[in-house]
Amino acid sequence: MSTSTMPPVQGGLVLRPASAGDAAVLSDLAFRSKAFWGYSDSLMSAFRAELTLTAAQAASAVVADVDGVLAGFYLLGPVSGPLPAEHRADAQSGSAAGELDMLFVEPDFIGAGVGRVLFQAAVQAAMARGWRRIYIESDPQSEGFYEQVGAVKVGERLSGSVPGRILPLLCKTLPTTGQGGRGPRATYWR
Ligand SMILES: CC(C)(COP(=O)(O)OP(=O)(O)OC[C@H]1O[C@@H](n2cnc3c(N)ncnc32)[C@H](O)[C@@H]1OP(=O)(O)O)[C@@H](O)C(=O)NCCC(=O)NCCS
Repeated sequence: MSTSTMPPVQGGLVLRPASAGDAAVLSDLAFRSKAFWGYSDSLMSAFRAELTLTAAQAASAVVADVDGVLAGFYLLGPVSGPLPAEHRADAQSGSAAGELDMLFVEPDFIGAGVGRVLFQAAVQAAMARGWRRIYIESDPQSEGFYEQVGAVKVGERLSGSVPGRILPLLCKTLPTTGQGGRGPRATYWR
């Protein structure tokens, strides 16, 4: 599935916090986005629960609007699965690191730069929380994207949705204060 055919986002991209009432809309977006990779109906059914946001999750999400259209969102959360031995201190500290729980772009916008903007916003938000690293349990098809935005593979995890499915685990090391960390930007022009 090629992601390189979309022209860059031409209109204004605005980041804004989502709300609890957005849970259904964001869950539907996540489902359509995951389906972009061409997974079978049975696999998509197996993914349904992991793609469904609770009201509390939606209230923590940040969405990207492009010319008023919901183009994607991200959600940060605590470390929620095993980390490789050399990273285990991050799981125990509870404040030094977290996970990118979700990052989904509406299929019509895939390949247009929205994912990079959302990831950069997640980095800024994580730095504001004092995190030093973000872990990403990635869909195998998205691994190359995360490498493009500076994450490196540090291990693997087993999928919680599909028995035997192995997922790459990536880690983005965040800049420390003084290396360019600033507050999140409300708008972004690619
Ligand atoms: C993965 C995803 C978030 C990327 O978002 P996107 O808006 O399409 O990515 P961008 O257009 O910002 O791409 C940024 C860079 O990553 C590259 N890239 C994007 N997707 C890629 C992929 N799947 N593999 C390799 N490189 C990729 C782009 O070529 C671009 O590189 P460049 O800046 O050097 O040209 C998006 O494809 C998506 O939502 N996919 C379906 C759902 C999914 O898998 N989400 C992640 C769950 S872990």
